[in-house]
Amino acid sequence: MLRIPAIIGHRGAKANAPENTLAGFRAAHAEGAAWVEFDVKLTRDGVAVVIHDETLQRTTTGRGRVRELTLATIRAADAGCPAIFGDRFRGERVPTLAETLDLLLGLGMGFNLEIKPCPGLERETAEASIRVVRERWPAHAPAPVLSSFSLAALEAARDFAPELPRGLLAAPLPADWRETARRLDCATIHPGKRGLDAATVAAVRRAGFPVLAWTVNRPARARELRLWGVDSIITDRPAAIAAALA
Ligand code: G3P
Ligand code: MG
Repeated sequence: MLRIPAIIGHRGAKANAPENTLAGFRAAHAEGAAWVEFDVKLTRDGVAVVIHDETLQRTTTGRGRVRELTLATIRAADAGCPAIFGDRFRGERVPTLAETLDLLLGLGMGFNLEIKPCPGLERETAEASIRVVRERWPAHAPAPVLSSFSLAALEAARDFAPELPRGLLAAPLPADWRETARRLDCATIHPGKRGLDAATVAAVRRAGFPVLAWTVNRPARARELRLWGVDSIITDRPAAIAAALA
């Protein structure tokens, strides 16, 4: 089985710093997370950027759809989430995937890249992400996991970069998760915590897949999942969950 750290910072350290920003990844590192999870979409000019929503409004001061805006326009928006964090992170930008990987490499961190394509851009988003990983992430660094809810994106990733481990994301896991994971040659399974039970965790692990559960922010729930055999907890609060599992 692939080795995955026990704690992965969700979108960085989403509870304590603006999600999917370089400041958020530094915060996750400061909280002791060895890996972060983040979401990748394509701009109108085909650049892989790290952002969760299809639009800018929730997480930045900008407006509009990521797929309809150029990188330059997206970079003009402030991604410091002033509505939540006030002025503390003012000046943060939506990061490109390239600069994110450069930062993580410098920090000695690993990552779970979630391919989050806008509809119709599944293959393009997977391939653009992989091109950046190949260009910026050296072979000696820990292998990342490329996950997605989009089966089309995972299929594209498998065809384009069979050597990069893939993770099947689902909430809840569908009845045919085994067949899907085998067909897409996935290395890991990433179930949502809701409705996840001990029997499912055991079945997934028996089938040879590490289980990465998200998004788990309550210490008691993290401990329960760990007891069931979950390999890795994806959390907005890396330090708190690490303390709960210590
Ligand atoms: O990769 C785990 C989790 O991030 C999936 O859901 O919506 O937070 O990207 P979401
Ligand atoms: Mg995600």
